[in-house]
Amino acid sequence: MHHFSYKAGVLHAEDVDLSSLAASVGTPFYCYSSATLEHHYRVLSEAFRDLNALICFAVKANSNQAVLATLGAQGAGMDVVSEGELRRARAVGVPANKIIFAGVGKTREEMAYALGEGILGFNVESEPELLALSSVASELGKAAPIAIRVNPDVDAKTHAKISTGKSENKFGVPYVDARALYQKARELPGIDIAGIHMHIGSQITDLSPMRSAFTLLADLAKDLMSDGIALRHLDLGGGLGIPYDATAPMPPSPEDYAGVVRDCLGDLGLKVVLEPGRMIAGNAGILVTRVIHVKEGADKTFLIVDAAMNDLIRPTLYEAHHDIWPVAQELRSMPPVVQDVVGPVCETGDYLALDRSLPPFSEGGLMAVMSAGAYGSVMASTYNSRLLITEVMVHGEEFAVIRPRPTYEDLIAQDRLPKWLG
Ligand code: LLP
Repeated sequence: MHHFSYKAGVLHAEDVDLSSLAASVGTPFYCYSSATLEHHYRVLSEAFRDLNALICFAVKANSNQAVLATLGAQGAGMDVVSEGELRRARAVGVPANKIIFAGVGKTREEMAYALGEGILGFNVESEPELLALSSVASELGKAAPIAIRVNPDVDAKTHAKISTGKSENKFGVPYVDARALYQKARELPGIDIAGIHMHIGSQITDLSPMRSAFTLLADLAKDLMSDGIALRHLDLGGGLGIPYDATAPMPPSPEDYAGVVRDCLGDLGLKVVLEPGRMIAGNAGILVTRVIHVKEGADKTFLIVDAAMNDLIRPTLYEAHHDIWPVAQELRSMPPVVQDVVGPVCETGDYLALDRSLPPFSEGGLMAVMSAGAYGSVMASTYNSRLLITEVMVHGEEFAVIRPRPTYEDLIAQDRLPKWLG
């Protein structure tokens, strides 16, 4: 569900006309709908209302501080994977005791910073990390609340690059070793066992792997509690998929997801932590881009647009599908043409859509690349010395530039010439 729709023949973000917005801020740009962000957060929290859940938005999906502030105002906590993400969350006032710090490679400096902030917990991914955290916390005279990330060796049935719960993935501690590591953890100074963590992958559209993983999680929780370890929470990670393609079957709803959690873990009486990223931000954002040229190739038509793989890498990296809508609604009633939507970057892999049946766009035409609110701008780069693009948030009839486009002066000023080059 989202708030991008046609009104008076023009695609709008909530009540903002995207054609006028493009004229005002220039293309390309990301546009986020605050009502959609809030709606997704609300739907998820309602689905989990009886499960004593804390929803920690996965900041990696979209770290713009306006997005974090919008969700923080709804009561969301945050799931961060670096000091930078932690600082962003804290900068917009998210309470430290609602922040979880995950990731396989936290440095000692990052651990010390997070301990100083007083975060809710660290999701620990290995024994060496546990030992390092114990030593950093002890030196600071603190106790680090931890959950060990357990790898259940379950196939999440998603794209290989975003599957994390198989034994060959770098994430977590093997399920069979987890109980012994908890025994070790309880003896370590500076460690306060708070919970167990699992996250098996992203864009999951079939709940059966989640059910398998959560069943294993329940068994481990019972074992640990029988060992006398007082758990406070179970962190279930994120991963619920979203509809990217209007013609594909709908992924499971938040209610279905909550149902699986209730079946597997509901009777344990433990607090639940969720780390959704895509489910909250994905369909709350679009990428608006303008056709620079329509190029008739030998075999096909290329729509060359002003956004490229450096702005949205998902199609190139994951063969991801993003629906494309014309901003001018009248184009939708014209006979479609099979076309490639490509950017100006000098790589064959630079495309937003391949062999896609799309309206006959002409030069100057505007299109919206849908479902680009998660893992869009956060994965952007300046490859080909292209400037990062503007980000805009809408709120009813209002809009605000929430990240201005840098200038070429900013870009040129980043490098330093060594003194031997004068
Ligand atoms: N928790 C952990 C430990 C994670 O690794 C992730 C995502 C999440 C939560 C949030 O997952 P979500 O609810 O968004 O599925 N760049 C890729 C996705 C990478 C996901 C990495 N981890 C993409 O564009 O599809």
